[in-house]
Amino acid sequence: MRLLSRKATCNAHGQDSSYFLGWQEYEKNPYHEIKNPTGIIQMGLAENQLSFDLLESWLANNPDAAGFKKDGESIFRELALFQDYHGLPDFKKALVDFMAEIRENRVTFDQNKIVLTAGATSANETLMFCLAESGEAFLLPTPYYPGFDRDLKWRTGVEIVPIQCTSSNDFQITAPALEEAYLEAQKRNLRVKGVLVTNPSNPLGTTMSRSELNLLVNFITAKGIHLISDEIYSGTVFSSPGFVSIMEVLKVRKCENTEVWKRVHIVYSLSKDLGLPGFRVGAIYSNDELVASAATKMSSFGLVSSQTQYLLSALLSDSKFTKNYISENQRRLKQRQKLLVKGLKKAGIICLKSNAGLFCWVNMKHLLGSNTFEAEMELWKKIVYDVKLNISPGSSCHCTEPGWFRVCFANMSEETLNLAMARLKSFVDSMTMTSSHQMLKNSRKRSLTKWVFRLSFHDREPEER
Ligand SMILES: Cc1ncc(COP(=O)(O)O)c(C=O)c1O
Repeated sequence: MRLLSRKATCNAHGQDSSYFLGWQEYEKNPYHEIKNPTGIIQMGLAENQLSFDLLESWLANNPDAAGFKKDGESIFRELALFQDYHGLPDFKKALVDFMAEIRENRVTFDQNKIVLTAGATSANETLMFCLAESGEAFLLPTPYYPGFDRDLKWRTGVEIVPIQCTSSNDFQITAPALEEAYLEAQKRNLRVKGVLVTNPSNPLGTTMSRSELNLLVNFITAKGIHLISDEIYSGTVFSSPGFVSIMEVLKVRKCENTEVWKRVHIVYSLSKDLGLPGFRVGAIYSNDELVASAATKMSSFGLVSSQTQYLLSALLSDSKFTKNYISENQRRLKQRQKLLVKGLKKAGIICLKSNAGLFCWVNMKHLLGSNTFEAEMELWKKIVYDVKLNISPGSSCHCTEPGWFRVCFANMSEETLNLAMARLKSFVDSMTMTSSHQMLKNSRKRSLTKWVFRLSFHDREPEER
């Protein structure tokens, strides 16, 4: 008799992925400037630690917010008892206004259509429960965030069918790729319920173009399916082309009163833009009342605590603060991304041109022993164990081409990033030296053999030849 459930024992969680294995290796030997200077540097974690000082100085100037006071009076008891899964109205209003501000108010959001969840992880899973049955499928462009295998599939039984994107057009989604994925799902007898994209993309660090977004709207209109746009990195867009939300595209196309309006849903979270993954604040925004109401009921499995909501409603209602925070945070991210790109370039490594996110999508194809995923794993192991950098291999993001890696830049100090780049450069130099040494040895061997051959050939007596 099975003592544990199938859910508990199946491996659909994806914890065996190199993405999570890299984290485990880092935990065993974490780099510390003084305590462990030869340890592993964590570059596989999309955390934003660049703007904590701004949040901390706001907290110091607004002690009532964290002290659970309103107009000098304690509201501790009120907060301790509040457990309504509809969330604090003030917080929902502050959150939708913040989302609009990130989109430069080209679109606005209605606080009645937002559902609070414990992070985007919970938001994505809740949407799967609302939109699909076990055994139905969502199409996702590759490469995609490795956590989706856990978030979308594990407990819901929903399947992911990849939309194959390639470096030939900088991993943009194309109409044939969408059709192919749809066909592939049909071949596997899976009913397609929707497409899920991340915009800006994790792991690419790029924003989707208007034409890609229009293509998606056309596709879901034609097929009568849903579109989920995970816009968790919307506030991290640090250079042009700027961020275009799917809601903006629908607005421009005047879709408000059409069928498709209700089939587009946004996922958001404060884990990246505000750098608060530990606060577990996420949201679903849906134009479909039924989806919003079902998701609200489901959110009782992953509520945001009332003291977190209270603190953040005060912070996000301070529009002077949020305006400054958004632009300063983007400025810092841009500077950091430049530092990474420069460091990689010094090591002879290039990456996809990015304008958003907390990472770069790095091309190390030329360092592979062969054009295979086995060679990618071999290189990854060397980088983790010898170079002591935890980066995420493209295969963990379901990339179809070997040799790509996601490298994070916002979860460490500038000094640590410089050290990481120095380690990488000396590794690449040593690889190049070894291979040129090997080439030299091989060519010497070849000329030696030629010489030996010639010598022996000419030395031999004519009849022996
Ligand atoms: C695209 C994407 N969606 C969702 C998540 C999960 O975020 P959260 O911490 O809000 O659960 C992440 C985290 O890395 C992500 O990159």
